[in-house]
Amino acid sequence: MGALEFGIEPSLVPLGVSEVDRDHHELETLLAQLSIASVDGNREHFTKLFNDMIEHSRDHFAREEILMRKGRCPSLELHSQEHKAILDRLARYAHALMLKRQLLRLDEIRALGTWLQRHADTADKNMAAHLRRHYAPSGISV
Ligand SMILES: [Fe+2]
Repeated sequence: MGALEFGIEPSLVPLGVSEVDRDHHELETLLAQLSIASVDGNREHFTKLFNDMIEHSRDHFAREEILMRKGRCPSLELHSQEHKAILDRLARYAHALMLKRQLLRLDEIRALGTWLQRHADTADKNMAAHLRRHYAPSGISV
């Protein structure tokens, strides 16, 4: 069964910040893999993927926050609050997964994909526009 059948396909528009675009692609891939694992019901595989996604999300948000701090991005605080809110949601799911052995349902995984899409289209897009201006012409790097 392919990821496209779950309505989760790579759809994020590249923002022109290579680290961020690469991370987003990886997050989308993990969400698609989680959808498949949720339907398959293999708890061990699902748990590994979910833990990978939490770790990747933490690292990705930290990279963005470093870029914003170095680039004096005015939206740093609000943007970081969005990161914290989704990490809190992921932690609640991780708790249920560990204690109740409860896999995320497909609609819950889709909602994470919707969050990522909305966040990338708003907060990340604004951040990228600021960073491209701030770092030009030397280029952006963490
Ligand atoms: Fe972000």
